[in-house]
Amino acid sequence: MEYPELVAEVARLKHERDAVILAHYYVPPETQALADHVGDSFYLARLARTLECSTIVLCGVSFMAESVKMLNPGRTVLLPEPTADCPMAHMVRKADVDAARAAYDDLAVVCYINSTAEIKTWSDVCVTSANAVKVVRELPQENILFIPDMHLGHYVSQLVPEKHFILNKGYCPIHHGMQVAEVKALKLTHPEAVVLAHPECTEEVLAEADYIGSTKQMIDYVAKSDAAEFIVLTVEGVRREMEHVSEGADKRFYFPATTPVCADMARVTPETVLEALRDGVGEVDMPANVADATAPLELMLELAAR
Ligand code: 13P
Ligand code: SF4
Repeated sequence: MEYPELVAEVARLKHERDAVILAHYYVPPETQALADHVGDSFYLARLARTLECSTIVLCGVSFMAESVKMLNPGRTVLLPEPTADCPMAHMVRKADVDAARAAYDDLAVVCYINSTAEIKTWSDVCVTSANAVKVVRELPQENILFIPDMHLGHYVSQLVPEKHFILNKGYCPIHHGMQVAEVKALKLTHPEAVVLAHPECTEEVLAEADYIGSTKQMIDYVAKSDAAEFIVLTVEGVRREMEHVSEGADKRFYFPATTPVCADMARVTPETVLEALRDGVGEVDMPANVADATAPLELMLELAAR
């Protein structure tokens, strides 16, 4: 099917199913173009609560669709590519969480939303890259076990020095794999460029950045900035929205030579969205034993809104 025909069919099915399509900035641009709303993990989780529709199609990876389902148990949530899974979402051992709980009385287990529903049930509160600093500061506990991402955990620990952090060894293969040499080479070629980085990057790469933030925060930075050139240290999918918010302003965006692509997000193609709407592919069904994972998500929304 040609793209314009697919767009028309998606619109028809969306109406028939009373569905809203949400997409993360990392899915392919032609998938983002089908969405009613495009955003970062925090925006999508929060927004899903406010929608009036019976079905939500979540173009992203499984932890995002699970989070939306947990916050909206009464609605049908479809994940168009059910095998799209964030590798970092699994990088925590229960034994390490139990050991930290045994070692510290005054401990909060802070879980990055990039985690499975089961891992969330081991946790006290969730965070996203957009709200982690704010949420951790709001917690009464002095000791923080931050799971699964060691880089986001380390970044937050630098900004909240009054708390004691225990870090876990998880990481995003794409951000963790970014080479500082490639970043330095880009800075040499584009000395005027503002360097934007996602906090999932290593400490070494973050040291090269002028601004660190979630995907949405980086896009907002571009929208407000007078700069003409940006070196962007996250998955290349953000280019579409960065170009969109700077339309008419001749801004240029440079990504590392080893183009950062999230293979899982890349599989969420327009065809999978069509199949989800047409055949109900990828319906998210949360088992009863992970119902506890809703509480850390709810607490995140509450603390982030303070
Ligand atoms: P954001 O919450 O910044 O969109 O990041 C999600 C993610 O998966 C980063 O790799
Ligand atoms: Fe997971 Fe990294 Fe892909 Fe984000 S970019 S979904 S953290 S693998």
